[in-house]
Amino acid sequence: MILEKDEEAGLNGEYGEGVQAAYRILLAVGKAMGAQRLIPITSAHISGVNYYNIGDAGLEFLEDMSEKARFSVKTTINPCGAPLAGEFSIKFPDDLVNAQKRIVRAFSKMGAQGSCNCVPFEGENAPGRGEHVSWAESNAVVYGNSVAGIMTNRESGLSALAAAIVGKTPYYGLHIEENRKSKDFVNVTVKLQGGAQFAALGYFIGKRFRDVVGITGIDGASHVELKSLAASIGTYGPMGMFNIVKSGNGIEFSKSELDESMAKISGAEEGDVILIGCPFLSAEEVFQIARSLKGRVMLKRTYLFTYRSSYEEIREKGIYEELKNAGVEVFTDVCPSLSRIPELLGAKSVITDSGKGSFYMNASSRVGIKMMNRDDILSGYSKPIDKK
Ligand code: F3S
Repeated sequence: MILEKDEEAGLNGEYGEGVQAAYRILLAVGKAMGAQRLIPITSAHISGVNYYNIGDAGLEFLEDMSEKARFSVKTTINPCGAPLAGEFSIKFPDDLVNAQKRIVRAFSKMGAQGSCNCVPFEGENAPGRGEHVSWAESNAVVYGNSVAGIMTNRESGLSALAAAIVGKTPYYGLHIEENRKSKDFVNVTVKLQGGAQFAALGYFIGKRFRDVVGITGIDGASHVELKSLAASIGTYGPMGMFNIVKSGNGIEFSKSELDESMAKISGAEEGDVILIGCPFLSAEEVFQIARSLKGRVMLKRTYLFTYRSSYEEIREKGIYEELKNAGVEVFTDVCPSLSRIPELLGAKSVITDSGKGSFYMNASSRVGIKMMNRDDILSGYSKPIDKK
């Protein structure tokens, strides 16, 4: 790879051990992927925050790095294995909470902003269209490239960490305009509605394609539906981007493909608990859930997951209490799918609208999954509040 003068200096250790290690990681990735040079980025988003994923070895590595390096661009981090603060009805093991706090402290020391969050494309900190970033959370990468118009490859936690330190990333793959064109097409001929159905489409696409796919027949899909589609594509395959297009000949996704795909991600007849928020919900999504439940109460234990700024907004506006009275608890910081929450709740099966949640909850907690659209969950598992 061709390096500029200050990049050579960084690689030679002139800016310290941490920067040198970061350059080594970026150059190894760049060489493996055929990149010729590094390009500047405006933000980094790092995965590998959850103690369940990285364990003691990861924790020690991060604490060591936090002594040696600082982030040079806006950097956000993924959700945790346990909430970091606040009172919640689920009791997380103390040693897990302590390890998780040490991990987040190490990231904060290096300069990570805000709270643990897997949807960095939402909110006032989101990058603008056409900005080059280095993101490591697959749902965010797919949504960011496909809908928000940012440019990133599917980074690992380590390469995103290195990019956050250097402020650059290898120039290859989805950073290059030409590579963002659709190579294959999927023609959706069934009317899709709701996150669960879009998750089934994501399963279908993720399982079949590696490269950028153009999708026809989903014009007008909502933010919630596209979030679900992106998360599911990112879970079931290596793809980093799709395009919503008007035409293009490809394979059909009809009612029978929808039913087959849904059957793959939804195996349980019923669910003991309801978990919604994989990827994390925005404040607006939580408000919408509260509006749907006005005057009603849930019939099953129900938990929502969001990031800190929307959690605080929900509390300030009294929506947190309103939801609590409707039998719904809102969590922040913690990932519902990779924190063994179903196990901690003693649940054998979970109702959710998330294709990503379906995969990871099953993998981490061995639970059955019943996939339903969010509106159907809320109307089907609630009843009017008895005023007597
Ligand atoms: Fe986010 Fe955890 Fe799902 S990181 S996308 S809530 S698996």
